[in-house]
Amino acid sequence: MYAYTASFMNKYDLLVHAVNCPLFWRCPTRHIVDLYRRHAGGRHLDVGPGTGSLLRRSALPTGTAVHLLDRHEAPLDMARKALPGHRVRTYRQDVLKPWEVDEASMESVAMSLVFHTLPGQGIPAKSHPVREAARVLSPGGRFFGATVVGRGQAVRVPAQARWLMDVYNRRGIFANAGDDADDLDAVLRTSFSTVRTWSRGCVVLWVAWK
Ligand SMILES: C[S@@+](CC[C@H](N)C(=O)[O-])C[C@H]1O[C@@H](n2cnc3c(N)ncnc32)[C@H](O)[C@@H]1O
Repeated sequence: MYAYTASFMNKYDLLVHAVNCPLFWRCPTRHIVDLYRRHAGGRHLDVGPGTGSLLRRSALPTGTAVHLLDRHEAPLDMARKALPGHRVRTYRQDVLKPWEVDEASMESVAMSLVFHTLPGQGIPAKSHPVREAARVLSPGGRFFGATVVGRGQAVRVPAQARWLMDVYNRRGIFANAGDDADDLDAVLRTSFSTVRTWSRGCVVLWVAWK
């Protein structure tokens, strides 16, 4: 598992959002920010918030209650500081363990660029967050996000992306060798009544309604 330390997080936005997403994964970050703008609600849980830059760029209304769940202290600290106008609560825990978040308490849950870092051979093996998102959402709530995949009917993986993905998998930065966009769609449908998934380059994006 990769160490999300303060010094790594300082370089994270430049590396991931200015280089990897647009140039390698072929999904400029604005497409993920757009998900936040359309679907984040007044009580929002962000799973694996990183630096908080996506939340900041999504310009949530002042006063939105933002809950942050992450196993590392540095991202929780950075994301909290990135959201000065909001009520922020943090949960320091592993996303693959039961979440300490109350049932039916959230209007939206986002999980951006986290699945591909989680251990497990394929999306069905790491589907616990999907069930937890469904549990903590209130009726009508939305679960949305994005993840880098190497396979799927509509997924296009350019040669440079395949190369970088292989390097990241060998170094333990990614664990997405078995992740398939169509499996993600199927897993979401087991917990949510309405599901939409689509691909941009080798990123699959989704919105699922409870
Ligand atoms: C690649 S970053 C994504 C950051 C942000 N969501 C974005 O899209 O830029 C992955 C985030 O997930 C967190 N994370 C990774 N594995 C986790 C786990 N098992 N449980 C909880 N958080 C985890 C990391 O600390 C980091 O904040």
